[in-house]
Amino acid sequence: MSMIEQLAAIGDDAESRAAEVATLAELDSLGSELLGKRSRLGELKKGLRDLDEDERRAAGRALNDANARVQAALDARRADLEAQERRRRLDDERLDLTETIATRALGHLHLVTQTHDRLEDVFVGMGFTVAEGPEVETDWYNFQALNIPESHPARSMWDTLYVDLGPPESTVLRTHTSPVQIRVMEGGPPPIYSIMPGRVYRRDTADASHMPVFHQIEGLVVDKGISFADLAGTLEAFTTAYFGGAIHSRLRPSYFPFTEPSAEYDINCLFCLGEGCQTCGRTGWMELGGCGMVHPNVFASVGYDPEEWSGFAFGFGTDRLSMNRHGINDIRELFTNDIRFLTQF
Ligand code: DAH
Repeated sequence: MSMIEQLAAIGDDAESRAAEVATLAELDSLGSELLGKRSRLGELKKGLRDLDEDERRAAGRALNDANARVQAALDARRADLEAQERRRRLDDERLDLTETIATRALGHLHLVTQTHDRLEDVFVGMGFTVAEGPEVETDWYNFQALNIPESHPARSMWDTLYVDLGPPESTVLRTHTSPVQIRVMEGGPPPIYSIMPGRVYRRDTADASHMPVFHQIEGLVVDKGISFADLAGTLEAFTTAYFGGAIHSRLRPSYFPFTEPSAEYDINCLFCLGEGCQTCGRTGWMELGGCGMVHPNVFASVGYDPEEWSGFAFGFGTDRLSMNRHGINDIRELFTNDIRFLTQF
């Protein structure tokens, strides 16, 4: 093999081996193997001594070229490996600034529950206890015991949903929280100072201000010598405690079968504080619910002596309170359980 052929083989060999090297350390040792004193090139270089001048010049040039070719192969591979190394380091050290630290997503009480909790706090602070009753009721509790006999015209005040259980129309989804009054009175003798929050149902088509299911809170006081003044005073004390001192209450004559006399319970408009605005129809008042003195027939249905005891009751919707407080304009939001809505409160 001529020297030229040998040098060409060294160059080819260097190129193919450099391409196979996987790390910079391996490349360094390949470099000393191919270019060091003991390398094939080194030996050929030593052999130059034995050549005459003309041959030596040509062979020297060929050796330099071969040396440069080996060096170029090593340099090219080094550039590749360094670029790879840099890419790997960048990947390893990358910080994803869009990544949020995984905090535990804590849930919280539903807005409706929060509202009932606040209402309960205020009434408990006034000495009331909290009671609950079933949502599926008998006709007796929902109507008859509340002085609404069968086929009484007042039944049309409640668009009732019936449950297919027992004789036709004997079981209802309670249309108000008032039946819990009956259950509380059945539960023991007066004195009674209780509130009864809960879910109620009516045959209604859902829209922004109606739902076939909604929430109410009921109040019942039975004691000796309770008067209409106690009712008015209790509702006024509740109003200022719950809504703040700027909001007051008023009572307007009304009709409910289970109270006599009966009244509507209004509060100053929460938006204009009584000035009159679009929301309150320029009256300065908002209707909250109903109230009155417990009807003697209601006492009779639980075996209380109306000569001995007297009392008042009230009931109002609570969803509107949540909505007013948080500027919610569609009651359906309270029931659809969209997490994007719920997490705001
Ligand atoms: N239950 C009535 C309703 O849902 C509200 C109500 C009015 C409750 C007068 C009462 C009351 O306790 O005394 O429309």
